[in-house]
Amino acid sequence: MNRLNVLDVMRVGPVIPVLVIEDLAQAVPLAQALVAGGVRVLEVTLRTAVALEAIRLIAREVPEAIVGVGTLTRPEEFAEAMDVGARFGVSPGLTPALIEAACETGLPLLPGVMTPSDVMAARAAGFRELKLFPAQQAGGIGMLRALAGPFPDVTFCPTGGITAETAPEFLALPNVACVGGSWLTPKAALLAGDWSRITELAREASVPKAR
Ligand code: 3PG
Repeated sequence: MNRLNVLDVMRVGPVIPVLVIEDLAQAVPLAQALVAGGVRVLEVTLRTAVALEAIRLIAREVPEAIVGVGTLTRPEEFAEAMDVGARFGVSPGLTPALIEAACETGLPLLPGVMTPSDVMAARAAGFRELKLFPAQQAGGIGMLRALAGPFPDVTFCPTGGITAETAPEFLALPNVACVGGSWLTPKAALLAGDWSRITELAREASVPKAR
């Protein structure tokens, strides 16, 4: 399988859905529903007991998907996620241990930042593609515009508090390549196994960003 870099992952589509999979039986139909709507990059968060197994199943059964692991907070999780087929990783923040794990394993990492100092520390560690998290709470559009001045070489994936309505405004910013969010997978649709609703939301979200 080709090794990706983070910018490749961010440029596949405008939205990376942040997935919290509680029921393993939903992993494959959920991934298929998103892919059917044109959303191929999927972030499966390590917030549930079945997350790693979900990544394994999606990687095996849904080859059109590019599945990654989210909510990486401990270094040992990098190798665990790669073993089951994760092709990229996303973390809510960045620590020396996570930097080391990213270097050692080679898992392309999109690390979270929230302040200018975070951006500087991440950049010093070699990361120029960053997740602004939690984006809305960190200042949203205004924060991203302000960060563009001192950090013209950084590309962001804002995540947290973004909706179908606000995503286009974020995507219009030159320093934003894509956004992350959970709005493509509403709880009610997941509980009901309403895959066509999820495909519809994915289709609405997958209109490419104008470059
Ligand atoms: C998360 O922490 O779950 C992600 O940032 C997604 O946030 P959202 O639910 O506000 O889109």
